Amino acid sequence: MSEVRIAVFASGGGSNLQALIDQPKRRALRWRIGVVISNNSSAFALQRARDENIPDYHISGKTCPEPGQLAARLSEALQQHKINLIALAGYMKLLPPEILRQYRSRVINIHPALLPHYGGKGMYGINVHKAVLESGDTKSGATVHFVDEVYDRGAIIIQRTVPVLPLDTPESLARRVLNIEHTILPKAVGMFL
Ligand code: GRF
Repeated sequence: MSEVRIAVFASGGGSNLQALIDQPKRRALRWRIGVVISNNSSAFALQRARDENIPDYHISGKTCPEPGQLAARLSEALQQHKINLIALAGYMKLLPPEILRQYRSRVINIHPALLPHYGGKGMYGINVHKAVLESGDTKSGATVHFVDEVYDRGAIIIQRTVPVLPLDTPESLARRVLNIEHTILPKAVGMFL
């Protein structure tokens, strides 16, 4: 099979993008990041892409205000860079249904909790870790899963747990989970291939 080209969608810092960039098995497994897309023009993820000479785009409801324009622009960028797989890595927006249809079974997302728990509406960023701590659960973790129309509900590809420690704050738990995310996202890409 020829090289698999991945589009990484990220809204913020992009440490998961960096974990993919730094993945040493990338060449042997024959995949590359073909494009990085953000809805946030000041996302550090875009800078990380530029540092690696990966094409990057800011595409959002602001840059594409007309009905249908956002999906069309995303689709154009994905086609232009011959993308086979979409990885949502800290992307805070829903993908338009048209894109989900075009890339059915080829969109994955990383979520900072053990789905099916702590997913769905409002469960993003630090909110997830606050909810885990409030519940008294003794473990948390991260999940990579397929994305379909119902967010955080698609089939699970890989999951790894971390302990919740007695003195944890949402921030300390988030850091422990993020470290795990950096290992399972590249692994999930390898499994997808
Ligand atoms: C990660 O915790 C990811 O699971 C969540 O947003 C965070 C993004 O981190 N969806 P980064 O931008 O990859 O550093």
